Amino acid sequence: MCWWVIALVPAVVLGCRYFYSMRVIHGYLKQAMSRDMRDIEGFYRKSSDSCLWVAVLEDKVVGLVAAVGQQRSSGAVELQRMSVDRRFRRCGVGVALGLKVLDFAAAHGYSTVVLGTTAYTPAAHHLYQRLGFRCVGVTNGYVTPGAGWSLMERIFYKVRHHYYSLDVQNC
Ligand SMILES: CC(C)(COP(=O)(O)OP(=O)(O)OC[C@H]1O[C@@H](n2cnc3c(N)ncnc32)[C@H](O)[C@@H]1OP(=O)(O)O)[C@@H](O)C(=O)NCCC(=O)NCCS
Repeated sequence: MCWWVIALVPAVVLGCRYFYSMRVIHGYLKQAMSRDMRDIEGFYRKSSDSCLWVAVLEDKVVGLVAAVGQQRSSGAVELQRMSVDRRFRRCGVGVALGLKVLDFAAAHGYSTVVLGTTAYTPAAHHLYQRLGFRCVGVTNGYVTPGAGWSLMERIFYKVRHHYYSLDVQNC
């Protein structure tokens, strides 16, 4: 009986981790769908400080990225929503999308491009470093936007948030 209980512990921990991680991710997606992703044109066209680009290959949208200007006084624009369809990764789409944001920042007189990522795979970090970003800070126990942040979510969903920054004049 005791061995059964011990053997069950890792399965329960893994199950809880999966369940609460999915809850946080769904909360994040729900928040995105109620914000800019609900009305992309309306959100990104209402201000010249924001823009969203899609990458199209063979008439299919295979990736997207957005730039959202922060308060003018900060001189920073934030790169958001970087994502490439997994069938078209490692083809240079991510770099092309990233360069769009850098061009946008330079054309609009921003001095810095900033971004935050909780990506745990190396792909996003390598991409940003390749574009010239450098990591300027890491937060442990980052509160993902849209998360309910109950005690169970805090216990079972832990991510590190990396902040990257790039000086537009020197890139
Ligand atoms: C991160 C992501 C956008 C990269 O897009 P991509 O189109 O594959 O990137 P590119 O082909 O332009 O690759 C650019 C560089 O990124 C790095 N890179 C991309 N995929 C990588 C991988 N799987 N492992 C290691 N490095 C990788 C490499 O340095 C690569 O340059 P190289 O091919 O000359 O070595 C894509 O993997 C993705 O959508 N991931 C899931 C969503 C995500 O994590 N988004 C970032 C959230 S902030």
